[in-house]
Amino acid sequence: MNRHIRLALAGAARAAALAATLTAALTATLPAHAQDYPTRAVTWIVPFAAGGPTDALARTIAERVSRELGQSIIIENAAGAGGTVGTTKASRATPDGYTMLVGHMGYMGAAPALYKKLSYDPVKDFAPVFRFPDTPMVLMVRADHPVKNVRELVEYGRANPDKLFIANAGVGSTSHLIGALFAASAGMKVTLVPYKGAGPALIDVIGGRADGMFDQTNTALPQITQAKVHALAITSAKRVDQLKDVPTLAETVLPGFEAATWYGIYAPKGTPQAALDRMQQAYLAAMKDQAFTSKLTEQAIQLLPAEEYTGQALGRHTESEVARWKEVAAKANISLD
Ligand code: MLT
Repeated sequence: MNRHIRLALAGAARAAALAATLTAALTATLPAHAQDYPTRAVTWIVPFAAGGPTDALARTIAERVSRELGQSIIIENAAGAGGTVGTTKASRATPDGYTMLVGHMGYMGAAPALYKKLSYDPVKDFAPVFRFPDTPMVLMVRADHPVKNVRELVEYGRANPDKLFIANAGVGSTSHLIGALFAASAGMKVTLVPYKGAGPALIDVIGGRADGMFDQTNTALPQITQAKVHALAITSAKRVDQLKDVPTLAETVLPGFEAATWYGIYAPKGTPQAALDRMQQAYLAAMKDQAFTSKLTEQAIQLLPAEEYTGQALGRHTESEVARWKEVAAKANISLD
């Protein structure tokens, strides 16, 4: 065996020995139970009824993350009060890594500005694990509504105060926040109708029992393409490929207006860091799978730069959103109703 190969083998042996030492040192610092987390299924609480955009996005992401995790992720729907009922339940769950919350802009961002007595603190009572990509919202009306575009809707709403019934998923839900912001910014007085989730709300818009709503693209797109509802505008800064003929609110009635729902997975405070790290690692690996992320972008879901997906980034974002919504809610006079 010539000298070069011998040296190479000796080097490889040394590298393998070093790697083994490092691994032993790293895993030795984890408590025994954390080294093999998760040893059973993990529950993600979705604080809205099944069938809405939060539920749909959570199930899509949970299926792919569970493959990286090697354990099932079970979605538990716990609806009510714009997502605050399920969030309270998650904040009080045993912090063992087996119960986490699917959070979003409403009950983890705006809720402290809207609810005088909120039974949890989005920052103090939770540990951020990772952030989902964002979803823009589509303004839709029932298929037989007389208005044909968003300008006509605004004219109709101004001329008929309280006669436009705009459905949402409860006080503090994004459909409520964006609906209230849109009406206030467009100078309309509408009637906001709360449901236990955007899923039941959309059923009533399709059935003609409500006039319209804002819904995230992942659940709105199928209904729009089947002409069960009529899309008037989208809240993203630019039009989306899946709805090329649907203008943005910014280019029509609300120059500069842009909004998207953000989401994230949170664990109750006190959850072992090893569990947070393992869950985050499984998600970051899933988001590197282009076959998976293209399924998301096909739903007009907006991918973020990889560094925005981490728990640390979600924690910073949550704090800034809680502060921002206090100003937005005060300015737009959005409150419990
Ligand atoms: C909302 O905040 O409107 C939610 O996305 C509703 C839902 O997901 O059901």
